[in-house]
Amino acid sequence: MTMTSSRLAIHGGEPVRTTPIGQWPEFGREEEELLLAALRSGKWGSLDGTYVDEFERAFAEFQAAKFAVTTVNATMGLAVAYKAIGLGPGDEVVVPAYTFIATASAALMIGAIPVFADVDPETLLISPESMDAAITPRTKALVPVHHGGSPVDMDAVMAVARRRGLRVVEDAAQAHGAAWRGRPVGAIGDVGVFSHQSSKMLTAGEGGTMVTNDPEIDELLWSYRNVGRRRGGEWYEHVRLGWNLRMTEFQAAVLLAQLQRFPEQQARRTAAAGYLTERLREIPGVVPLEVPSGVTAHSWYTYHWRWLGARQGGLDKFAFADALRAEGVPVLHGYVPINRNEAVRAEIKRLGGAEPAACPAAEKADAEEILAFSSPILMAAETDLDDVLRAVEKVARYRP
Ligand SMILES: Cc1ncc(COP(=O)(O)O)c(C=O)c1O
Repeated sequence: MTMTSSRLAIHGGEPVRTTPIGQWPEFGREEEELLLAALRSGKWGSLDGTYVDEFERAFAEFQAAKFAVTTVNATMGLAVAYKAIGLGPGDEVVVPAYTFIATASAALMIGAIPVFADVDPETLLISPESMDAAITPRTKALVPVHHGGSPVDMDAVMAVARRRGLRVVEDAAQAHGAAWRGRPVGAIGDVGVFSHQSSKMLTAGEGGTMVTNDPEIDELLWSYRNVGRRRGGEWYEHVRLGWNLRMTEFQAAVLLAQLQRFPEQQARRTAAAGYLTERLREIPGVVPLEVPSGVTAHSWYTYHWRWLGARQGGLDKFAFADALRAEGVPVLHGYVPINRNEAVRAEIKRLGGAEPAACPAAEKADAEEILAFSSPILMAAETDLDDVLRAVEKVARYRP
């Protein structure tokens, strides 16, 4: 904790909140029954059991995709998706600077080079203009990230992809149940990847699912995550190099139960986000992120907002976050832009890629403005959200 926040704790009186806010994950009898059934079946792997197949069918339908292929996590899902669209050593992919490192590291894992596009400061989503400007003759694919669960403008992305002859991989790790102009994300582009890691809204602790409408990509996704086998082939027939990246039956059993809960949870998160936006707007210096008008369903994985009050003599964003935590409200700083990550930059250099360009909007978001609430707060009751709002208001009023 910084000096500023400990001063605030003294001058600010009692913390607004002394008990945890919200709970994640939520589970009950359905998860217990399905997990036990998977256990008692004695078929714990997807090669023998039925839960993975069943979840893949259910999730494909849920995201309005023709095919879904599960895997161990979204990081490996992205690497497999990149391979399935034909990405290889030296090929470039355009990714936003403001994202989780896996969007880029999965490309680097297969020798492909991420090129960073900046984000729109009002939405934190990849800017179509910056994406277009990042394309070079070596570019093979665009990777929109549906950050926080908000779909990127997929009309704009697909228009650029068509015009420039590029593939599209949607990083939908955070965007289960999200839709752009009524179309669920994931299979709007060539292939999309979802995460089931423990913070995600459709979780089994770990896991990932890739979706596509293209039967050839589906076959490749299946093959890469099954040690390069082919469907219907022999056990030791490896037609390409792949890996064992299969999800277990236990994960799929939990995911099937979680999928049943999802629509009601998404509706609760949407209501919570609406309430936060309405009330946060009333606090001077606090500006909730814009949601693009084409977003017809938002996952609300995280809720980001801009703190602009430092310019009017308020705390800087890091001291603001410390002070909020001292009030009992968990808050995140958001991402450190990955174009600035030393490990990413070193690997790009080693592979012969160009030095990553500056991305001023992403860097400003990190250095000065962005704070975020995560899923437990979005799952909380309105009275808990009132505590969150009271704490934000208290800290926003404070002048060091
Ligand atoms: C945008 C984004 N992409 C990829 C991933 C990687 O997902 P996983 O943790 O399942 O590997 C994450 C996980 O947080 C993410 O947020």
